[in-house]
Amino acid sequence: MKVFVVGSGGREHALTWALSRSNQVKQIYSATTNAGILKLTTASEVNAGDIRAIAEFAKREQMALAVIGPEQPLLEGLSDALESRGIAVFGPSQAAARLEGSKVFSKEFMTRHHIPTARYVVVDDAAEAFRALGAFGYPVVIKADGLAAGKGVVVAADEAEARQAVQDWLVDRKLGEAGNRLVIEECLVGRELSYLVFSDGKDFAAMPVAQDHKRAFDGDRGPNTGGMGAFSTPGLIDSELEARIVKEIVAPSLEATRADGFPFRGVLYCGLMLTSHGPKTLEYNVRFGDPETQAILRRLESDFAELALAVARGELARCKPVWSDETSTCVVMASAGYPGIYETGKVIHGLEAAEQIESVAVFHAGTKENSSGEVVTAGGRVLGVTARAENLAEATKRAYTAVEKISFEGMQFRRDIGLRNAE
Ligand SMILES: Nc1ncnc2c1ncn2[C@@H]1O[C@H](COP(=O)(O)OP(=O)(O)O)[C@@H](O)[C@H]1O
Ligand SMILES: [Mg+2]
Repeated sequence: MKVFVVGSGGREHALTWALSRSNQVKQIYSATTNAGILKLTTASEVNAGDIRAIAEFAKREQMALAVIGPEQPLLEGLSDALESRGIAVFGPSQAAARLEGSKVFSKEFMTRHHIPTARYVVVDDAAEAFRALGAFGYPVVIKADGLAAGKGVVVAADEAEARQAVQDWLVDRKLGEAGNRLVIEECLVGRELSYLVFSDGKDFAAMPVAQDHKRAFDGDRGPNTGGMGAFSTPGLIDSELEARIVKEIVAPSLEATRADGFPFRGVLYCGLMLTSHGPKTLEYNVRFGDPETQAILRRLESDFAELALAVARGELARCKPVWSDETSTCVVMASAGYPGIYETGKVIHGLEAAEQIESVAVFHAGTKENSSGEVVTAGGRVLGVTARAENLAEATKRAYTAVEKISFEGMQFRRDIGLRNAE
């Protein structure tokens, strides 16, 4: 079959890599891409932001399946456009994507269906927001309603910080429309955990848990980033807790999507806080996270193309994923200055040597090929160097052995990915 992969980051390179290992897949097409994805795919001329053009192209080329990585096209209705042209889609409908696209929508959904979450109010005017703040005490959490690329949540330590967020978003409109409404909510205390499942609208299948590392520097210091690494190993979550998460959050959430008329198909990512009163939902994402995907997909034993097609067609019951007991580690190599300002266009050396190390796969995030055919940096996060082995120590060692082979000017990476207590 022919498959279209939408998205151009490390997550999508991992998805493309997983698809390319299937002998069911004849050809993979991509829109905007990076040097790693480009190697495995046929670049299409279509504009990645043009839903109609993508859907028409996929139809013309008679693609059997489309795999959509990022949230933006899902929110814009790409799944629906593809589906209406007869293409199986791995990714939720526009209606279901609102679970991520609007924090107000998702909070109201959780409340309506009694899914455990923090107490909250919705406000759309500053005076009302200032009045509401007092009710929660401090710290308090303030969230912009719409997509804000990770910049729409403030955990405010005191009233001054809380008022500043309200001022920035509701008054000064610094996030544009995404800040038209705010959720003000109770600050939950506990360990954070992401729990991801495949859902085909009827059945679901869990993925192994991955631990990510969000801060820029070793020892969990420095600014928050999109992710500096992740690992996935058996035993990150005990089975009693997992059963509780499934029973109290995952199953009722998916049931609720059916009850509300938008059965969820694709990856449901539940962002959770494990509080002393049990797991509570912080948010939903309607797609894979990055770089956890890179670690998780390295543990998939079964055929990803078959699985994605089963998810798209509602046939998950007869095609459950099979996971390895081995461990995977993904170390992100980033540009100097990331997550702040960084330069691009630095030549990357040593990719081939790194990939020759046993069980290593290097996933590209911000890379491209320059006019002389060299792979150069093109983003903040540049590479996700992954390895798989029988245990965490070995997987991590291999990933770092591969990292040592790679060099580009200003490269920055954490040296403590895979240490259990580093977050
Ligand atoms: N109610 C809450 N209590 C404590 N921390 C929270 C709460 N809601 C969000 N957070 C913190 O803020 C981060 C971002 O919030 P989240 O709801 O995941 O939004 P987004 O990923 O869209 O920025 C979470 O990962 C968590 O660390
Ligand atoms: Mg989040």
